[in-house]
Amino acid sequence: MLKGKTALITGASRGIGRAVALRLAQEGMNIAVVYAGNTAAAEETARAVRETGAQANLYACDVADDAAVCALCKRVAEEMGPVYALVNNAGITRDKLAAQMKEEDFDAVLDVNLKGAFHFIRHTYTGFLRQRGGRIVNISSVVGLMGNAGQANYAASKAGLIGLTKSIARELAPRGVTVNAVAPGFIDTDMTRALPDGAREALQAQIPLKRLGAPEDVAAVVAFLCSDGAAYLTGTVIPVDGGMAM
Ligand code: NAI
Repeated sequence: MLKGKTALITGASRGIGRAVALRLAQEGMNIAVVYAGNTAAAEETARAVRETGAQANLYACDVADDAAVCALCKRVAEEMGPVYALVNNAGITRDKLAAQMKEEDFDAVLDVNLKGAFHFIRHTYTGFLRQRGGRIVNISSVVGLMGNAGQANYAASKAGLIGLTKSIARELAPRGVTVNAVAPGFIDTDMTRALPDGAREALQAQIPLKRLGAPEDVAAVVAFLCSDGAAYLTGTVIPVDGGMAM
């Protein structure tokens, strides 16, 4: 039963993170809404979560900042109790062909997408050990499985998340904590709306189910992974991509 337990979701102010927050709230979970800087959007997510009857607390934090993540995780534990479900969703892109990609573009994407997840895992780890149960879901990408021209930094970060997922799954399995990754394909959010029209159409043509995914398509799979029914899945990577990566 998820009811009354706490879920911490990074990047929950919009897009996939927001949909995950609402879905887990519908399951009765209280939500720690972690967001970067858009307070108005985060407050809107919190309002929608509270409408379901669940509790929502807001925490502004740059996931790339280890000290800030450490302080935040302590606050969440004090204010909301132990985190039962950690969803590492915050992510950015800085797309360029590798020859034009600056080292700072590479580092920024790795720092948010990969190290951000590591920071949250590190600072909730003891809480998971004590609970002898819980769920970690890392939001990877089909690009981490397939690669993508112009996204060397992003693909490396998302492939890195898969190695991180499997390693932590092995570490925490003896305590009954499961750790899995979801690999979304082309999901209709602000991130993909930023792509030029031609690129969107070319991508859509590669999807066997012939439509972009909705944030709710990803949220449904995350909710399953958090549920009791997923107790025997760990270290897996589930594509949610309309068949794109098969
Ligand atoms: P989005 O750009 O709409 O949302 C990203 C969220 O992450 C925002 O709430 C943003 O504020 C937050 N964020 C960014 N940097 C942060 C930082 N340093 N600290 C804290 N929060 C930060 O993106 P979308 O599409 O909802 O993506 C969510 C996740 O899903 C990302 O990890 C993305 O890489 C992944 N994904 C998205 C796909 C898509 O097609 N939209 C496909 C595959 C993976």
